[in-house]
Amino acid sequence: MNSKHIVSPDFDSIQEQTLIPTHVAIIMDGNGRWAQKRMLNRIKGHEQGSKTVRSIVETSREIGVNVLTLYAFSTENWQRPKNEVNALMTLLVSFLRSEEKNMLDNNIRLMSIGELHRLPKEVQQALNRVISITQYNTGMILNLALSYGSRSELVDMVKKIATGVKSGSIEIDTITPEVISANLFSMNLPDPDILIRTSGEMRISNFMLWQLAYTELFFTETLWPDFTKEEYLQILHSYQLRERRYGTVST
Ligand code: FPP
Repeated sequence: MNSKHIVSPDFDSIQEQTLIPTHVAIIMDGNGRWAQKRMLNRIKGHEQGSKTVRSIVETSREIGVNVLTLYAFSTENWQRPKNEVNALMTLLVSFLRSEEKNMLDNNIRLMSIGELHRLPKEVQQALNRVISITQYNTGMILNLALSYGSRSELVDMVKKIATGVKSGSIEIDTITPEVISANLFSMNLPDPDILIRTSGEMRISNFMLWQLAYTELFFTETLWPDFTKEEYLQILHSYQLRERRYGTVST
């Protein structure tokens, strides 16, 4: 956790505060329902959702979050209708292209976790370009979970470690939680302090199962396209009032 403190959800009061979370992870849910409620195509919901992404990235950077992980596309999302998958991929490319300058100007580094080789070539190229040109930025990491599923991440980790054991580079007795973390897609990132899921669903949905072991969970009924900076600050404020005991007792 960083050494700032949000004493009220008011943005201006943040300057002299402590306890800003180091890593915020968000399951951005409810784009489809947002559109359906307005008799619009689901894709309109994703378009509106990407505007929320811009606003929450900006707020995270301003308040001093070090890592923001956004669950933008799951391994299960590949099963959606082709036109929706294509629209999401197109939105991603346009987000990456339009945000490139903003990330450079604001010292934001882009990273990505997931089975990235499954993404269309155009998305991989746009992603790799921004990852590469922002690699030395130090202000904040924006980590996009793309074609991501925690169980396949865990299978991948087991295979890497098993290969190491087989080749003799890893001894079984040296396998610790740290070794496991280091072999996940999220290898160098700290575990999330906060997980937010929008749209009222109370599930983790195959997201960072290992990394969320001690994460504070926040669920809101708000659909992702309606999620505002004010509600985000309210959640950060609630987080600061929680006592994180990591399985021990209060002191
Ligand atoms: C879940 O809503 C959301 C997604 C599957 C995609 C999230 C994508 C974005 C927010 C926009 C593009 C991303 C970036 C990073 C620019 P849903 O479609 O499952 O909603 P529903 O549960 O109401 O149907």
